[in-house]
Amino acid sequence: MNLTSETTPTVLIVDDNPANLGVLSDALDQSGLEVWVAKSGTVALERVKYALPDLILLDVMMPEMDGFETCEQLKLNPATQNIPIIFMTALSDTDNKVRGFQVGAVDYITKPFQQEEVLSRIKLHLKMNDLATQLEQKNVLLEQKFAEVSQAYADLQQMQIKLIQSEKMSSLGQMIAGIAHEINNPVNFIYGNLVHAHEYAQEVLNLVHLYQEEYPEPTERIQAALVASDIEFIEDDLLKLLSSMNIGAKRISEIVKSTRIFSRVDEANMKEVDIHDGIDSTLTILNYRLKAKPEHPEIEVVKDYSELPLVECYASQLNQVFMNILANAIDALDEYNQQRTFEEIKQHPSQIKISTNMINDEWVAIHISNNGPAIEEKVQTKLFDPFFTTKPVGKGTGLGLSISYQIIVERHGGCLYCKSIPGQETVFVIEIPLRQQISKVA
Ligand SMILES: Nc1ncnc2c1ncn2[C@@H]1O[C@H](COP(=O)(O)OP(=O)(O)OP(=O)(O)O)[C@@H](O)[C@H]1O
Ligand SMILES: [Mg+2]
Repeated sequence: MNLTSETTPTVLIVDDNPANLGVLSDALDQSGLEVWVAKSGTVALERVKYALPDLILLDVMMPEMDGFETCEQLKLNPATQNIPIIFMTALSDTDNKVRGFQVGAVDYITKPFQQEEVLSRIKLHLKMNDLATQLEQKNVLLEQKFAEVSQAYADLQQMQIKLIQSEKMSSLGQMIAGIAHEINNPVNFIYGNLVHAHEYAQEVLNLVHLYQEEYPEPTERIQAALVASDIEFIEDDLLKLLSSMNIGAKRISEIVKSTRIFSRVDEANMKEVDIHDGIDSTLTILNYRLKAKPEHPEIEVVKDYSELPLVECYASQLNQVFMNILANAIDALDEYNQQRTFEEIKQHPSQIKISTNMINDEWVAIHISNNGPAIEEKVQTKLFDPFFTTKPVGKGTGLGLSISYQIIVERHGGCLYCKSIPGQETVFVIEIPLRQQISKVA
């Protein structure tokens, strides 16, 4: 109902007294309102089932059902509960006026009627009701808008996180892959030539031996040179040196290979991969953080891999998850070790355990645990929230786990959760299906 619009407001008068009805309906009719009448509460309740008036004038004293009961019934019905009701009562009837307000009336008018007063009150309440309705509609609209804005804000935040992380990872991945590529050639060059270097060194030494056999009494100059150069030591050390160079070069090639497996920049699409390769390459990259340092002994890594089939996934993203979870485990152990002495750490060494297994024919699980301090419950509830971190400014961005969650849950339709048992271990569990349904990774 809108008083300013073309539609005429309707008023339902409920009164058992035909004289009252006549007077009132004439007055209202003349002032441009549409009038409906009902001779009893029961009739009124029937009437509103077919069409709703904008206001109801309700007599208190009626046989069968009085005004109060009629009013209560109207207030119980969601369709009619907001229609303003004005009671009609005798001038002296204070109790009835009070009770009328208690059952939900907005006003009362007294008999005998003062026409002008009745009209003013009716118009006032029609106007107020109209404003209330408009306000309610505006409120609904506002709530809708608020929900839309909140959603847009949440979407924007998610988008920003994804952007930051993908930017960080893609530039990092490209840099790692670039460096790996650049190192690959020279290292192969060294590694490949070491075999020949070993061979040639051996031949030169053989030749020296031959000379020594054929000329057991060399000239004084040669004898002096032999003593000065300590040829026996050189002979012994040269071969050891070459074989340790060989081990070193081999190690560099393994790191290069791991970085390539880890970054997999050339493999943006879903592929079937060996999950263990991904974990191992991540461990190789993190090796510098696991090794013994002056301030703490090495962090032991215990692997318990089951035989797993290849898993269909976005390999580089999954490796990112391993990286985030392993780096967090190392951070937690490092922090813990700062409060322990070297001896204490030696007695209860820091340990990271990685185990894999099939949950059933279609799902694999990866458990990554560490024996650092447990995560408090209030922290546990926020672990996967974007930007949640307990690390000092500049050390943690609080994005590692939220990104990991997105990768596992949203990209791979899997589960990622944490169990932390005080005095025992903190474990992060990744569960993913062996095969991806296209719909899940859209
Ligand atoms: N293994 C763990 N043991 C104890 N606390 C952990 C462990 N893993 C995560 N946490 C807690 O969860 C928080 C959030 O981890 P998350 O990886 O999301 O962010 P971050 O490590 O603080 O920063 P970054 O963005 O650099 O990863 C950490 O700050 C830490 O408090
Ligand atoms: Mg982290």
